[in-house]
Amino acid sequence: MKRQRGPHALPTTFSGNALKRGYIKIELSPLPSFDRTRLLCMVHAMSYPTLTGTFPSVAAGLKATTKLNNGLLMPWFGLGVFQVPVDADAARAVRTALDLGYRHIDTAALYHNERGVGQAVRESGIPRSEIFITTKVWNDDIRADRIEAAFEDSMTKLGLDYLDLYLLHWPIKGKHQSAWRTMEKLQRTGRIKTIGVSNYMIPHLDELLPKAEIVPAVNQIEFHPYLQSKPLHDYCRARDIRLTAWSPLMQAGPLLRDPVLTAIAKEHGRSVAQIVLRWDLQVGVITIPKSVNPARIAENAALFDFELSATEVAAIVALDRNQRNGADPFTFTF
Ligand SMILES: NC(=O)c1ccc[n+]([C@@H]2O[C@H](COP(=O)([O-])OP(=O)(O)OC[C@H]3O[C@@H](n4cnc5c(N)ncnc54)[C@H](OP(=O)(O)O)[C@@H]3O)[C@@H](O)[C@H]2O)c1
Repeated sequence: MKRQRGPHALPTTFSGNALKRGYIKIELSPLPSFDRTRLLCMVHAMSYPTLTGTFPSVAAGLKATTKLNNGLLMPWFGLGVFQVPVDADAARAVRTALDLGYRHIDTAALYHNERGVGQAVRESGIPRSEIFITTKVWNDDIRADRIEAAFEDSMTKLGLDYLDLYLLHWPIKGKHQSAWRTMEKLQRTGRIKTIGVSNYMIPHLDELLPKAEIVPAVNQIEFHPYLQSKPLHDYCRARDIRLTAWSPLMQAGPLLRDPVLTAIAKEHGRSVAQIVLRWDLQVGVITIPKSVNPARIAENAALFDFELSATEVAAIVALDRNQRNGADPFTFTF
């Protein structure tokens, strides 16, 4: 039988060889609801989305979304505001970005700029429903079982009625399941559209998922050509957990001088930053570069009128060297 799409025929078993040939075995016995969800995720993950093609304008590209595992639409591209600790600076950067057409902002309680982010969103005049806001609960609050109170603090600072995505910022030992239960409870209040994790590696997810009633929609990790974490990416892809790249530009370090990337950039008449960010989208990873510089905020978004060839994508994939810029999720001490 040919591979089925959509919910019409739910597979109960997959045969490895048949799957490789594009075939699956269909059995029509009823499934427990949790298995059904997992299988729907697997069916969906077979056609794991990437952003390809070009758009008529930067603003149109910035509005392009990807569907998360609960149906919520998340813009592929957004602005990060890490290391912008003054609310007025964050507000200025967010406002510049929104005026250019950005519709996705990534902050965190740790960044101490949720007030500035919320202010810029409210003052932009753009309908709230058109902007996707992520914030994150900090580690101390996870350790102290203060997630609900921390969420209230964040919402007060943001000054918004609801949040699009709330993330556990780092995997805190001994707290994966209990923290996730609180996140699920928060999502059920309706004030958060979706929940996810950040810096979760395979063993962390292996601990969280068996008891989860809601599969995390997103895992935000350090991701760039020098750190591609392929096994984790495959693991998340198979479970329909979308990756978001943090430090996609490796904080403007040596990555931006890489000779392979420089050659591809020259070929397209683009900056290395643009090549890296476009590559994220073409390999199916949401990306949130940070900038407070108006020219670079504009430069980073000009990604939607060119496309990397399959050969160029493969050349960038070949740059992987498991090189971290930030903390290691297995050994961090904060
Ligand atoms: N979940 C987590 O644990 C975690 C950790 C880190 C980051 N994040 C999120 O991911 C976002 C991005 O990561 P990041 O801020 O660490 O690093 P990044 O986006 O890789 O790099 C930001 C740095 O690159 C510079 N830059 C931006 N665009 C540039 C361009 N086109 N050419 C040259 N330099 C450029 C910025 O300076 P200017 O501002 O001066 O332009 C800034 O110094 C953060 O802001 C945050 O939202 C999450």
